[in-house]
Amino acid sequence: MNIAIFTSGGDCAGMNPAIKTFVEECYTRNITPYLIYDGLEGLIDNNIKKAEHSDVSGIIYRGGTVLRSSRSKRFFDHEYRLQAYDNLKSHNIEKLIVLGGDGSFRALDAFYEDFGIDFIGIPSTIDNDIYGTDYCLGVDTALNVIREAIDDIRDTASSFKRAFVIETMGRECGYLALVSALTCGAEVCIIPEIPSNLHTLGEKLKNEVKEGRNYAIAVVAEGCGMSKEVEQWFEEEIGLEARITTLGHIQRGGNPTVYDRLIASEFVIYALDKLINTANNHHAIVYKSGSFDFIDIQTISEGKYTIKAELLKMGQTLCV
Ligand code: F6P
Repeated sequence: MNIAIFTSGGDCAGMNPAIKTFVEECYTRNITPYLIYDGLEGLIDNNIKKAEHSDVSGIIYRGGTVLRSSRSKRFFDHEYRLQAYDNLKSHNIEKLIVLGGDGSFRALDAFYEDFGIDFIGIPSTIDNDIYGTDYCLGVDTALNVIREAIDDIRDTASSFKRAFVIETMGRECGYLALVSALTCGAEVCIIPEIPSNLHTLGEKLKNEVKEGRNYAIAVVAEGCGMSKEVEQWFEEEIGLEARITTLGHIQRGGNPTVYDRLIASEFVIYALDKLINTANNHHAIVYKSGSFDFIDIQTISEGKYTIKAELLKMGQTLCV
């Protein structure tokens, strides 16, 4: 059996350990592993090769993806999907594993509908916004990158009596911002999931400033688009000089944490078991309440990820 792996959409830490586990597991199970470079674009352009052990040696500690990635518009077009299918046929590749987000899973689901190519998607995005799974690959590393940045920024904030607005990624999901605010001791957190109330937050902070607080940290999710407003609020309402730090793509980089390396391997091993032992797979593997399961892509597409209620409750006092 020939199985290929590729990475699609935004890269994240943990992809390389997953690729390494895939190649090594395949060889152990007498399956021929293939690598598709450049995501769906590489599938269309036949950027495909049989994997050697040397392709994956020395990659476990590296962030990003050695297979590179892309966001493909062409794959929405049936003509290019047919070209991709012909490429797979030419290598006798029967099944696929894709590391990516729900957009990539939907693209592969269309491909499954067209040509019946089985696949398993491994949720991989720092945004942690995929319905049906508590965890997406890369999140722990991104949170640790943010933690380090906030710890460093606190040095200047406290030395200079300043407020810092730290903008985190996550698209419409506030998971990264909320967990970072909770674990880094921020005073304020602005996320799409909880309507913020700058008035009540301001009253609390002003009292603290009266009692001697001379710096503050606010973590703002990019999806709220409120960083500038919060900066002005600090200056005009709270009376603290303020600066914005937009963390940007450093959150996607960095070498994968132990947690991401381990769960990357687990995702791949469970995905391979399912692909090898069962037919008609057009599913994603999910990690829910401490165990692995599989759900179909339509269910993922129709659902909306929500941050668990306990976390939202813990963050409430930082948001309103
Ligand atoms: O989905 C991952 C992510 O990093 C988001 O958090 C962010 O909004 C987006 O991708 C950035 O995309 P790009 O790398 O295309 O600028």
